[in-house]
Amino acid sequence: MATLIGGIAVSHVPAIGRAIADRRQDEPYWKPFFDGFGLAHDWLDRMKPDAVVVLYNDHGLNFFLDKMPTFAIGAAPSYANADEGWGLPVHAPFAGRPDLSWHLIERLVGEEFDLTTCQEMLVDHAFGVPMELLWPGRAPPPAVPVCINTVQHPLPSARRCFRLGQALGRAIEAWPEDQRVAVIATGGLSHQLDGARAGFINKAFDQLCLDKLVSDPEALTGYSTRELVELSGSQGVEVLMWIAMSGAMTGRRRRVHTHYHIPISNTAAGLLVIENETARATVPA
Ligand code: DHB
Ligand code: FE
Repeated sequence: MATLIGGIAVSHVPAIGRAIADRRQDEPYWKPFFDGFGLAHDWLDRMKPDAVVVLYNDHGLNFFLDKMPTFAIGAAPSYANADEGWGLPVHAPFAGRPDLSWHLIERLVGEEFDLTTCQEMLVDHAFGVPMELLWPGRAPPPAVPVCINTVQHPLPSARRCFRLGQALGRAIEAWPEDQRVAVIATGGLSHQLDGARAGFINKAFDQLCLDKLVSDPEALTGYSTRELVELSGSQGVEVLMWIAMSGAMTGRRRRVHTHYHIPISNTAAGLLVIENETARATVPA
């Protein structure tokens, strides 16, 4: 059976991709942000995921406002990247895991999560930037992208995203392959890119989320979408992916690492690494 080793949540700001491309990691603006990733790299080196399930939101590259699935999942052998308008270098295609994709689709539809199944899917900065941050200079493990609509209202509720995560966690642990799987969530934390509150950041709410995502994630499912927009900003609702990731962490969870840095571009940049304690005994030598 597969082992769910844990989860990582990380922001996906395009400016990070530009800083990586221009090798500016050691500049004063960037160093405190990039320095936060060492412990996440150590954890990934130790836990050795064979595959990752990546919860992210598309920003108009693969899905536009004319067709917007609430939940979509990739089932492709590889996922091409393209420039959705930020001018970032285009990544080489990311490897997929169609066998894991179809297992997850069977299980999730079986649990009445009716996802849109994509046998072709472009992935944007919300997928590529976190992969570069977590596996700098090398290919990430093969991935299954799971796309959550945080762009066009009505959005799925925090409770629905948490339950999707719980179902994903159960499905991963029911995969009859001897494989180690991590769940990665991207986006957040608080930010608003436009309108009267452009530049809005809410450190107090971000800190509350960083605490509750480990100690009591179900507490975050009580917020309505409107409350999440108020508290985290109209793009800060990307915290829905973090809530979904926390739902996947069945069993006992342990905080490995938290990093929080304001601002990166317009965003409160966060990083959270959670280990599934029941997986600790399975760490390869
Ligand atoms: C920014 C943040 C995002 O999450 C995003 O998708 C695009 C831009 C920003 O802060 O610049
Ligand atoms: Fe975003």
